[in-house]
Amino acid sequence: MEKILLGPMPYMSVMPTLLVGANVKGKPNYMTAAWATVACMAPPMVCVAINKMRYTAKGIEENKTFSLNVPSVNQVVETDHCGLVSGAHEDKSLVFRSFFGKLKTAPLAEECPVNIECTLFTSVDCGSHLLTIGKIVEIHADPSCLTEGKPDIEKINPIIYAHAAYFDVGNQVDTAFSAGKKYRKQ
Ligand SMILES: Cc1cc2nc3c(=O)[nH]c(=O)nc-3n(C[C@H](O)[C@H](O)[C@H](O)COP(=O)(O)O)c2cc1C
Repeated sequence: MEKILLGPMPYMSVMPTLLVGANVKGKPNYMTAAWATVACMAPPMVCVAINKMRYTAKGIEENKTFSLNVPSVNQVVETDHCGLVSGAHEDKSLVFRSFFGKLKTAPLAEECPVNIECTLFTSVDCGSHLLTIGKIVEIHADPSCLTEGKPDIEKINPIIYAHAAYFDVGNQVDTAFSAGKKYRKQ
């Protein structure tokens, strides 16, 4: 089958919906981000592509710390709001209740079931966006979202982002690092 060429664009099949927390001029600010993933296992790192124009970018530059907060579907309205409005124009410090963990300058959103505290490892200037890589110093999780001490995807109920729409997590189709064992050469 011949494929249709869609041209280069920042495409990824599905993405997480997160809130990047940063103190800007001493005040918490939250920015919605979908262009984020794990960057390294040892030491544990995450990364997020942040447009240079974002108010959040100023706070990360200022403090060299930030957080990634995982909202659940219950926070979809507040989450989208943080992606529509810039802290440069409107105070977003009260959209979520903020608390601080080990880092005193990376605000964490209490309503989000999981909060990842990071120090800035490095930031790669890719053009419009800074690929902001953070070293994880701590992960805070609501006890109600854990099963046997581990974050439980069904309890967290995170927001999936794809094609300018929000989704919840669908059904499990198989088991990772195991399904492939059923593979047989044709
Ligand atoms: C679903 C969604 C995902 C977004 N993902 C990103 C992203 O990954 N990187 C980015 O720079 N902006 C992203 N944005 C846009 C910012 O969230 C938006 O410009 C926000 O107002 C910036 O806030 P700030 O200026 O207070 O930092 C996203 C917006 C939405 C609604």
